[in-house]
Amino acid sequence: MIDFSQLNTKAIYDLFKASLTLKRNFNNYSLSQVQVKGIAYLLFFEPSTRTRFSFESACARSGVHPIVLAGGNGTSLEKGETMEDTVLNLDALRPLFFIIRCPDELNLLDLSKKISTPIFNAGWGWKGHPTQALLDALTLFERWDSLADKKFLFVGDIKHSRVVSSHLELARICGYKIGYCAPDYFRPKVTNEIEVFEDIESGLKWADAVCALRVQKERHFDLDVQKAFNVETYRKKFGLNQASLQSLKSNGWILHPGPINYGVELEKEVLNDPRSVVLKLVENGMFLRQAIVQNFLNGKS
Ligand code: CP
Repeated sequence: MIDFSQLNTKAIYDLFKASLTLKRNFNNYSLSQVQVKGIAYLLFFEPSTRTRFSFESACARSGVHPIVLAGGNGTSLEKGETMEDTVLNLDALRPLFFIIRCPDELNLLDLSKKISTPIFNAGWGWKGHPTQALLDALTLFERWDSLADKKFLFVGDIKHSRVVSSHLELARICGYKIGYCAPDYFRPKVTNEIEVFEDIESGLKWADAVCALRVQKERHFDLDVQKAFNVETYRKKFGLNQASLQSLKSNGWILHPGPINYGVELEKEVLNDPRSVVLKLVENGMFLRQAIVQNFLNGKS
């Protein structure tokens, strides 16, 4: 799973139902009952906490032993070996699958044609983060049973967000609507399928769920973006706080994929809002990723 090109609505909803079954059965489960089926390589060329630990847990809980590369320390990346050569060499060791987080420069689609081991995308540059979009959607599905025609507003650094890239794909499959609210320097080109809001109040009034995005300074290579961004101005106009969130429906949802820049895109007080599902996303992420791993193993047996 590098993107959603091989999934349809039924496959996605089946995945959601399997994830929620795993969640319901969490307490009836013992690791000692799990048969080991093989080894997976988790290659995190970029930092991660949520995705890495939930995929590691998902593998362990599914009988797949995870071996993790976290950054280049202690590997031949330090001697100048490329990420691509690293994957080509590890492919020769015949793991069951790779889970890869990497910058844009490693082309996962090209790479998948050069190796025999399947790849799960755990966050690829600006291009996509499919399991994050899926776990967001799972959390909304858990409440609504269907995503069709629901309105999902993204606020903030949309231009540099791989999460939004994946949501654009997933929304076309599951039928939810996407809105953007961002300063122009954080807003990518929009198509007519996207609602655009200049101010946070009108965006929040429209939305069934709102997702604040991290300001991704590490991806602000564009000098115009660096010059235009000012924390205080941004926080006043686009930050989520208890005052701005009065415009969101009383039964709306508040999301953030994490990690959070408190005092920039979101104030800490928001986590105490009963509409916040920030940590529920992390919890659901493990069950979603476990369902993905088990789906893969069932397909092989
Ligand atoms: N949301 C997310 O991908 O978090 P990590 O970078 O910690 O994995």
